[in-house]
Amino acid sequence: MSRSVRLVPAVAAATLLLALTACDDEGTPDTPGAQAGKASGAPGLGDPYFPKAGNGGYDVSHYGLTLAYTPVGNWLSGTAVVTARATEDLSAFDLDLAGLKVEEVTVGGDAAEFHRDGQELIVRPPDALADGETFEVRVRYSGSPRTITDPDGSKEGWLRTADGALALGEPTGSMAWFPGNHHPSDKASYDIAVTVPKGLTAVSNGELRSEKATGDGRTTFTWHTAEPMASYVATVAIGRYTVTRTTVTRTAGPETCPGTDSPAEAGLPVYVAVDPSQVAAGRKVLARLPEVMEWAECNFGPYPFSSAGAIIDRPEDVEYALETQNRPVHPGAPDIATFVHETAHQWFGDSVTPENWQDMWLNESFATYAEWLWTEDEGGLTAQETFTELYDHGEDEDEYENLWAFPPAKPTSAAHVSDPSIYQRGAMVIQRIRQTVGDDAFYDIVQGWAAAHRHGNAGTADFTAYVEQQAPDEDFSGIWADWLYGEGKPERP
Ligand code: TRP
Ligand code: ZN
Repeated sequence: MSRSVRLVPAVAAATLLLALTACDDEGTPDTPGAQAGKASGAPGLGDPYFPKAGNGGYDVSHYGLTLAYTPVGNWLSGTAVVTARATEDLSAFDLDLAGLKVEEVTVGGDAAEFHRDGQELIVRPPDALADGETFEVRVRYSGSPRTITDPDGSKEGWLRTADGALALGEPTGSMAWFPGNHHPSDKASYDIAVTVPKGLTAVSNGELRSEKATGDGRTTFTWHTAEPMASYVATVAIGRYTVTRTTVTRTAGPETCPGTDSPAEAGLPVYVAVDPSQVAAGRKVLARLPEVMEWAECNFGPYPFSSAGAIIDRPEDVEYALETQNRPVHPGAPDIATFVHETAHQWFGDSVTPENWQDMWLNESFATYAEWLWTEDEGGLTAQETFTELYDHGEDEDEYENLWAFPPAKPTSAAHVSDPSIYQRGAMVIQRIRQTVGDDAFYDIVQGWAAAHRHGNAGTADFTAYVEQQAPDEDFSGIWADWLYGEGKPERP
């Protein structure tokens, strides 16, 4: 679902202001006394929409987070152990961290100098790092984690809820709860341990490895994510939850799933956490999880992760859904379309992750298109009919008034990366491809794309090149020029 359609109009004006002021603190942090011949890693990766997100000079392979949270007083204390490899000689490097107090930083076990500058935590190890060297940086920190307001006015970062907290990270919120290389291009595996007061549950990504009483009236939940994860889809949800643990056995195969040959899979662990107030409302849609998973595998190919599930909080606690890896977050019981949308993101966004925030349409177009396909397969409007409806009437309907405001691959600014031009017009690009190649080749392209970049990163140019290579007899240049990159409403195809 488009996040923007859920926002109240008053947010729009504030949004513009924020987008403008966001540039104010863009200065390069000073790193005094850099050693001759050794560089400081860049404070940002130069993302076209979020230039300070992420950092240059290294690649993270693993995050080990040990956190403790007390809802009363909103107090988080933690240790982050970040394992990374230097990609240049480094006398200093940055981590992204917003708010919180850093108590100690070590690199390779030795105390390191550090200072803060806006969202940058600048670390100077006692010995410079050599290009190619693997290193471990440990950051001890604590404080009241902050909620971040995005350029489009929505809230992310650390959200306090009625009975705990919820961490949401798209596009930049994860720096509110752990230091890291917070850009989608640097994916890593994770181990996240969270200690909370007894009676509360701490849910995160991946699989629950253990749940242990600490002896002092608290419980530690330990979660493991082996498959690469972008930090914007990392999450922690703390509160009273009704937890259901099951497995789904996918029987996807040529008979149930025409056109694919995905084999029957062993049981996939499913962990679903629902706020008690949402259990009754959520029962029906959650009962369809196995069906949605199987349908998604038929259409997109094998599920990319080793567990699945959902987190359903109260609508008062969170204003939009997010495709947090393994188990998407929902603001109250989702409708089936939103449930399908977030499920599709596991392939498109979480497994195949954008190279930068300009590629956002690759996530949202596929997730929106999944809703269209679901409707088609359920016997409702075909995707082509949805396309035509949008083409003819899309701009008349309030929520889609900006449908032609900008092309999917060129959002006007960071405030617009969740607009209808990304979601619905992006999905129209996917339908244009299907119109051009026909159903058989179309499903091959969708599954082939998900397979080619499974657990990796890919950008818009990779996508257009892939489509062209899969259908060498077709000419896509008009689709790219008019639908993907072109201003205004394209001509009727
Ligand atoms: N990706 C979410 C969804 O469609 C919506 C969303 C949350 C979003 N935060 C965002 C989109 C930031 C763009 C930018 O399910
Ligand atoms: Zn989405």
